[in-house]
Amino acid sequence: MKTQVAIIGAGPSGLLLGRLLALQGIANIIIEAKSPDYVLSRIRAGVLEQGTQNLLREAQAGERMDREGQIHEGFALSFQSRVERIDLKALTGGKTVMVYGQTEVTKDLMAAREASGDVSIYEADEVALHDFYGDKPSVTYTKNGQVHTIECEYIAGCDGFHGIARQSVPGDAIRLFERVYPFGWLGILSRTPPVAHELIYANHERGFALCSMRSASLSRYYVQCDLKDTTEAWSDERFWDELRARLPAKTASDLITGPSIEKSIAPLRSFVAEPMQFGRLFLVGDAAHIVPPTGAKGLNLAASDVYTLYHILTQRYRQGRLDLIQKYSEICLRRIWKTERFSWWMTSILHKFSDDPFNQRIQEAELDYYTSSLAGQTTIAENYVGLPYEPIE
Ligand code: APR
Ligand code: PHB
Repeated sequence: MKTQVAIIGAGPSGLLLGRLLALQGIANIIIEAKSPDYVLSRIRAGVLEQGTQNLLREAQAGERMDREGQIHEGFALSFQSRVERIDLKALTGGKTVMVYGQTEVTKDLMAAREASGDVSIYEADEVALHDFYGDKPSVTYTKNGQVHTIECEYIAGCDGFHGIARQSVPGDAIRLFERVYPFGWLGILSRTPPVAHELIYANHERGFALCSMRSASLSRYYVQCDLKDTTEAWSDERFWDELRARLPAKTASDLITGPSIEKSIAPLRSFVAEPMQFGRLFLVGDAAHIVPPTGAKGLNLAASDVYTLYHILTQRYRQGRLDLIQKYSEICLRRIWKTERFSWWMTSILHKFSDDPFNQRIQEAELDYYTSSLAGQTTIAENYVGLPYEPIE
């Protein structure tokens, strides 16, 4: 098989990039290790920045998001029994975020690709990348015991943190930056009305908690837990008691609990790979960077990588602008590191790192300062709605 761009991975990055390139007439094939059902089974945050929403609409996969997504004009930070709202819309000249589950985003992108007839290969085994430092790269994979080869002009490694693309880069050609946090997030999904109309991020001396939602009848809650914790050790009753203990009294009393329909523990890390381009191989999304979920930036950062690569490749194929190809990594990394900073900062001020009471007081002072100052509120708001995308020239 031959194509112009071989895309490794059918998560949000790969599917969004594939749609946008196809709509520009740039041929691409997606090679995915898992089945469509497996890809859709992942429960992930869905707080979409304006830029992400716009890309989904441009990919002709935003119609259900616009119909079912919830516009959020603010969110709250709670600490010392206080609930302080960050008025995103007022502080950013009208910008808001959209709450729409990542599973739904992936579902919509999958459906759009299926309707387009573009080639997607699922359950591909032993995916391997070849000759991406040359001008004839290729991807091989096995399926039903047969080895297949895809000759291409570029490879987009959209295969996530554990994918093969980054691992295919020679060790001396790549530099990794990482911070692993000493705790995890225990999350549950419950068919209950959310405790509040907007998200609440809670700092508490017992640990962090987050009140989120998927719809008016489907709630998503998290409590910070020990890395060695297991879901078996957390009955629903224990979870609800701990969540209430970490929330301000009024919020805790408003909480409507119910049986969990999903319960999982996720580790938190900050991670960046530099550079993000190796000859004709581009790393995109989680393949190149990971953020702790505290800033709700994972999907949004993947989307801004896709924006940059999509525009560079469009100019390359439409105007022959080979000069732009080398700009991908520097453009993406500027926004990535600023978003890593925001996600690290939100994680640092909201989570319990030790029993040292000094740390707790400093976190409370940081939250008090930022939420009591217009400048402080504004910096939180402009990061939460998403920093501007950098044009490719
Ligand atoms: N070959 C082919 N596909 C692979 C391989 C491989 N060797 N390894 C992984 N994959 C697939 C995974 O099965 C997954 O479907 O690549 C896809 C990567 O998707 P994500 O991990 O979702 O990464 P990305 O598309 O960049 O999306 C980033 O999703 O993971 C969340 O928090 C993250 O919100 C962020 C967003
Ligand atoms: C979620 O709804 O799962 C969610 C929302 C915001 C976050 C993280 C997770 O920052």
